[in-house]
Amino acid sequence: MAESTVAVPPTPRARVLAVGEYHPPLGNRDALRLDFNENTIGCSPKVCEVLRRISASALSGYPERESVEAFVASHLQLRPHQLVLTNGVDEAIHVLFETFLGAGDELLLPVPTYAMYAVYASATDAHVVTVQAADDLQFPFENLIAAITPRTKAIAIANPNSPSGSIATRSQIVEIARRAPRAVIFVDEAYYHFHGETVIDLVGKIPNLFVARTFSKAYGLAGLRIGLMAGPMESMGWIRRVISPYSVNSVALACLPAALQDAAYVDWYVGEVLAARAEFESALDAAMIRRWPSRANFVLVEIGRRHAQFVESMRAAGVLVRDRSSDPGCDGCVRITIGTREQMRQAASALRETMAELRRSGESR
Ligand SMILES: Cc1ncc(COP(=O)(O)O)c(C=O)c1O
Repeated sequence: MAESTVAVPPTPRARVLAVGEYHPPLGNRDALRLDFNENTIGCSPKVCEVLRRISASALSGYPERESVEAFVASHLQLRPHQLVLTNGVDEAIHVLFETFLGAGDELLLPVPTYAMYAVYASATDAHVVTVQAADDLQFPFENLIAAITPRTKAIAIANPNSPSGSIATRSQIVEIARRAPRAVIFVDEAYYHFHGETVIDLVGKIPNLFVARTFSKAYGLAGLRIGLMAGPMESMGWIRRVISPYSVNSVALACLPAALQDAAYVDWYVGEVLAARAEFESALDAAMIRRWPSRANFVLVEIGRRHAQFVESMRAAGVLVRDRSSDPGCDGCVRITIGTREQMRQAASALRETMAELRRSGESR
């Protein structure tokens, strides 16, 4: 019997059809990169030394993560089974949601926040329920508590948050975990080093608390794709069933101990960023640009309706910044990563030129 069927491209699940496209503007970044909250000068020289010594034979074997996981766990005063290394925090989010979110479940998301929570949740059958921050963009604690229902299965809190730079306090996080006892409380500490406060010590003590950290920011290793998630031991067992055993590559595993051991480098970089942030904030104030207080290595500013032109003019002046105007509650806003003092003086001077140009060519708000 002749087959008359003509093959067609397969249709994805309905939820995937509804996922918005997320294309970070990563092309053509040969400039001062203040657009992705990366370390702006690079990783510790000790990591570069390890990189130079990596042999062909080390690359030919599958990556073995367990011994490095034990090393990292002990560095963070956790038990080995409480920690999993991940391909960046992004994989931690992906795997956590895949493990715990099912049909009828809700993810509670204070917004604006990091885009990938909604992206990965959309690939599950759960619903995303957003809780909008007020105009001050502070963590919407009361409204988040009020939004908890018996269907709340996960709550994602970036602490500090991006793009706002705001924080949730330790007591707020503890209270949220208590009020949503069936839910996974995911605290994303990607910007921990710039804030200096953590709840990672509560892992294992609060049975529904999960904490993630990245090596993409203060450590300067975004290109290696390495992060971690810590959580209660039995839950991490489920995570291990879902995660790919080889998602963290051998190069990242080889570099990680050197990165962690060179605390002096990270401390120096963080100190530099904090000093630069204070200086840059004064420059913003002098230019009468509204900004939100930040506990991270970036600052959100309000440019107004000409935000896109601002981003383009800054680019023309050699400084990349990130338009966040389409984030909920961020109309007209741009996020500027903080680098070293020298880099931020260059950024401040580009900013002054850009503002003058916007004023010359018309209303800037
Ligand atoms: C809050 C937050 N979490 C996670 C990430 C991504 O981290 P990673 O590079 O480890 O996937 C980012 C990156 O911008 C972020 O802002």
